Amino acid sequence: MKPAKIALIGGDGIGPEVVREGRLLLELVREERNLPLELWELDLGADRYLRDGTTFPAEVRVAIQRECAAVLLGALGDPRVPGMEHARDILFGMRQGYDLFANVRPCRALSDRLVPLKGRGARDVDFVVFRENTEGIYVGMGGQFKRGTPDEVAINEDINTRKGVERIIRTAFEFAKKHGHSVVHMADKSNAMRHAHELWLRVFDQISREYAPDIRGKHVYVDALCLYLIQDPSQFRVIVTNNLFGDIITDLGAALQGGLGMASSANVHGFDAGRVAMFEPVHGSAPDLAGKGAANPFACLLTVGMMLAHLGYPEEEQVIEAAVARAIDERQCTPDVGGTLGTQAAAAWVREEVRQALRALHSTPGRERLAANALPLVPPARAGNLALGPAPSSPSPTSLQGTQRKALRPFPFPGIHCWHCNPP
Ligand SMILES: NC(=O)c1ccc[n+]([C@@H]2O[C@H](COP(=O)([O-])OP(=O)(O)OC[C@H]3O[C@@H](n4cnc5c(N)ncnc54)[C@H](O)[C@@H]3O)[C@@H](O)[C@H]2O)c1
Repeated sequence: MKPAKIALIGGDGIGPEVVREGRLLLELVREERNLPLELWELDLGADRYLRDGTTFPAEVRVAIQRECAAVLLGALGDPRVPGMEHARDILFGMRQGYDLFANVRPCRALSDRLVPLKGRGARDVDFVVFRENTEGIYVGMGGQFKRGTPDEVAINEDINTRKGVERIIRTAFEFAKKHGHSVVHMADKSNAMRHAHELWLRVFDQISREYAPDIRGKHVYVDALCLYLIQDPSQFRVIVTNNLFGDIITDLGAALQGGLGMASSANVHGFDAGRVAMFEPVHGSAPDLAGKGAANPFACLLTVGMMLAHLGYPEEEQVIEAAVARAIDERQCTPDVGGTLGTQAAAAWVREEVRQALRALHSTPGRERLAANALPLVPPARAGNLALGPAPSSPSPTSLQGTQRKALRPFPFPGIHCWHCNPP
């Protein structure tokens, strides 16, 4: 079998420190399970950029696309490069260059101890956010006018295409179907962003009707979602939203699961199983921790687990997650999650657990073992087949005050349960 090639990019700050541990874990799993995995280390990041001006060369972008099954990225962002040129080229070069439109972020607490909410435990925090990854306000369209003067104008355009909205929503529904979830929540701000987010509502309504009655679509304003996530996160299993809101909600989600040191993510094309996918811990380069050996490596180790599941090794992902959970329970972890260990020692403890657990497993390796939770999620034939329905008439410019609590007029999307019109 041709090995699955995995590109490793440490990046900046704590990125290389946690990716080093990710690599050691991958090597251990490969050795123990005799997995056909080939690792390819790439020297990209702020150091390289400052050394020779390289950000994300076209030949590397193409080679990854042609040869790799996956990329493991640490983090990008360095105070020496305030313009973030290299970060933009590398991160967006992969997310947008490979059209990895689904940023999948599981928010799952592995221990009661890590849940910061009074009276809540790990069982209450278990949801997945599907963040649109190639559009929205992150596309960089816009500009500045009369810069530096009192009349300065600064604009960032928020791009929402029907294709982009449809495919991320459909990906979330397919995930819900595959995992037996009965509700998908869609978070927007359609009461204020009446053009772009009315499109989200309309597409969500149409797709919800396709999946009814097994799966219900529920609409919730993003500000209210933040409130509900703190009041009772157990109400949520699958959340789909745009690029900006997904970025913000998942930091909140990370806080519910024990902090950024525990949050993993995948960037995938939801319809194309053969396309390279990119995996990264949710955290950034944490310049305050860089070089101190104090960064929590667990987000990166859990991300490696997601990658292995995606490549067809879901058992190995479960073993990794269980080992991390044990490390948390036994406080064999870094200070941010209540331990005293450094990055390397915490990761080494998990590796030893993983080694023992894998040796106890008897099933044979093989990518033919279908990953129960592998991505992508949507059969290609289903992709892009949304029938264009008529747009409900434009919302009237009513006062926004109180729209979250009180419906001002009948909710015009019969396929969706509106949280705000009919509170649970
Ligand atoms: N995808 C990415 O590469 C990515 C994501 C977010 C931020 N960034 C960049 O990272 C840089 C720093 O950004 P920031 O400070 O806003 O976010 P950050 O995620 O780097 O850090 C936020 C806080 O969380 C802590 N933290 C983060 N990861 C941790 C870990 N593994 N273990 C323990 N504590 C951890 C940090 O110490 C800091 O207090 C910026 O340049 C930013 O643009 C990059």
